[in-house]
Amino acid sequence: MSFQDLPTAWQGFLQACNSCKNCDLYQSRDQVVVYRGSLNAPLMIIGEGPGREEDRQGRPFVGRSGRLLDDALLALEFTEADFHICNIVKCRPPENRVPTEEEAKACRRLLNAQFALVKPRVILLCGSTAYKYFTGGKEPISRVRGQWIEQKSFYIMPTFHPAYILRNMSKRDELWADLLAVQAKLEALGLKAPLSQSLSEHSQQG
Ligand code: URA
Repeated sequence: MSFQDLPTAWQGFLQACNSCKNCDLYQSRDQVVVYRGSLNAPLMIIGEGPGREEDRQGRPFVGRSGRLLDDALLALEFTEADFHICNIVKCRPPENRVPTEEEAKACRRLLNAQFALVKPRVILLCGSTAYKYFTGGKEPISRVRGQWIEQKSFYIMPTFHPAYILRNMSKRDELWADLLAVQAKLEALGLKAPLSQSLSEHSQQG
């Protein structure tokens, strides 16, 4: 959708993102990376921060880990209408380092505004940075992944970051299980069509 076709509130939000200087990351960014997917998706997927490819293209999760995530989402019959993908910080940290607490805090106002615009019912937090900065939790991701955190109007599922899965393929089944749980939650909320029969039988076999 072109900028002119976006609802006014989104145009204002994107302008605020593109002119943001709330932390020093603006100095080294090529592009502010805000989202891809649908504006009012029932599922918000939150990663850590843009990498080199994301900074170049201005879209989140378009590198190797994004491909892994997209393949899994596609296999579970998610379409772009179902999700809104974004990050804890909207500008690339130099050398792909983990965003600092200050940077995450500086970016939180924009993430909150984004959340208010999208109004997701389910949040998938990818990796320990997203978990830590979104929930304030200090537990390792391996301990909390796969368990729902229930809030008043939405549900949070923490899971492994796809970049971690690329380095530890043996953990792929855990990511798959968490995505299946997300699919089941959205289905139970009436926000996503049931899986086709063969996939559903396959997923029940584990
Ligand atoms: N990793 C992230 O956490 N986010 C991206 O957008 C890309 C890679």
